[in-house]
Amino acid sequence: GRRIDVVTIPGDGIGPDLLAGAVAVMRAAAGQVGVALDIETIDAGAKVFSATGSAFPADRLDRLRAADGVLKGPVGLPEVRHPDGTEAGVLGGILRTGLDTYANVRPVRLLPGIAGATRHAPGEIDYVIVRENTEGLYLSRGNGVATAEAAVDQLMVTRVGVERVARFAFELARTRAGAPSDGVRRVTCVDKSNVLRSYALFRSVFDDVAEQYPDIAAEHLYADAAAHDLVVRPGRFDVLVMENFLGDILSDLGAGTVGGLGMCASGNIGEHAAYFEPIHGSAPDIAGTDRANPISQILSAALLFDHAGVGDAADLIRTAVVGALGEATLRIGSDGCPVGGTAAAVAEIVRRIDAARVAPVA
Ligand code: NAD
Ligand code: IPM
Ligand code: MN
Repeated sequence: GRRIDVVTIPGDGIGPDLLAGAVAVMRAAAGQVGVALDIETIDAGAKVFSATGSAFPADRLDRLRAADGVLKGPVGLPEVRHPDGTEAGVLGGILRTGLDTYANVRPVRLLPGIAGATRHAPGEIDYVIVRENTEGLYLSRGNGVATAEAAVDQLMVTRVGVERVARFAFELARTRAGAPSDGVRRVTCVDKSNVLRSYALFRSVFDDVAEQYPDIAAEHLYADAAAHDLVVRPGRFDVLVMENFLGDILSDLGAGTVGGLGMCASGNIGEHAAYFEPIHGSAPDIAGTDRANPISQILSAALLFDHAGVGDAADLIRTAVVGALGEATLRIGSDGCPVGGTAAAVAEIVRRIDAARVAPVA
């Protein structure tokens, strides 16, 4: 039979509750399609930093590379900081750079039953932000220079860095299931090449790569105008590719249009490793109250299953989530939290997966 080896990183704040829910959902879906699931847990994040002086045990990166899939919860607590003033518990730098997961894939989809912050119909919003994940402004992490009076961080873009993430975006546009409202497959390059050299290089390398994909439309938008269009006419987008910091901000903006941060999953994908996580943080303001929306973590588990080659289990998860929202047996309030709480939302999704009738796999 099929067997997959998964590492979970529960993280901080709402993370452990989300992981507990996502693991229950994964076990239900794997059980249905006859996949055995081995799960190992690695503790990491702000709590671990406070206890050990390191947010992630660096000698465990190989363990993450070896796994069939890594499911990570949000990490970080605002009060746990480095002497330089930045946060000590976030793992973005360690994992994204350490594993060279250069493509941060952030699907934004308006699901049935969800009132987003804009007036759009389910299915109308269905695009993917591909965020460059290893350079850009974030390359300055730990390298900024500061006095009490001034501070400098540098934004670096390289040809190889843009080439690989642009290629990833075009390949995704060729193969992904969703489509923009006009049916035209396209990749939108988002930048500020009107102002900054680094973004001008980003755009010019994007254009070079686009020439190798004549079947996919290529276009540009300045990031400010893109922010407007993502709110006002999100239906025209298919795949967007952008520098790290722009992708961080615009993906949370997109989440606001589809029911909140708790709706949005992501994958960090590289040549030799991948890990999956919600786009949001540890939500310290609601941690421990059973209020967090677990869908972001649960859909991240579905992305993990796709990546690990068990797309049938991934489809079971997505069908259960869409079914529960569409039939309103699971409702998301205007506060972005599930009516009835986290645990009840998980139980409803598990119930639907258990009730699904699945053809046996040969
Ligand atoms: P956040 O995303 O944790 O929270 C922002 C707002 O969204 C809060 O009001 C929160 O309650 C709400 N929210 C987030 N997830 C939700 C969910 N699933 N259901 C319902 N509501 C949800 O951002 P923040 O408060 O700016 O950051 C908190 C901590 O998380 C910080 O330490 C930050 O560095 C860290 N962080 C980690 C990651 C990650 O691990 N990938 C991502 C973003 C932020
Ligand atoms: C994200 C987060 C991280 C980022 C932080 C916590 C370092 O906001 O994954 O979007 O800025 O990349
Ligand atoms: Mn972010």
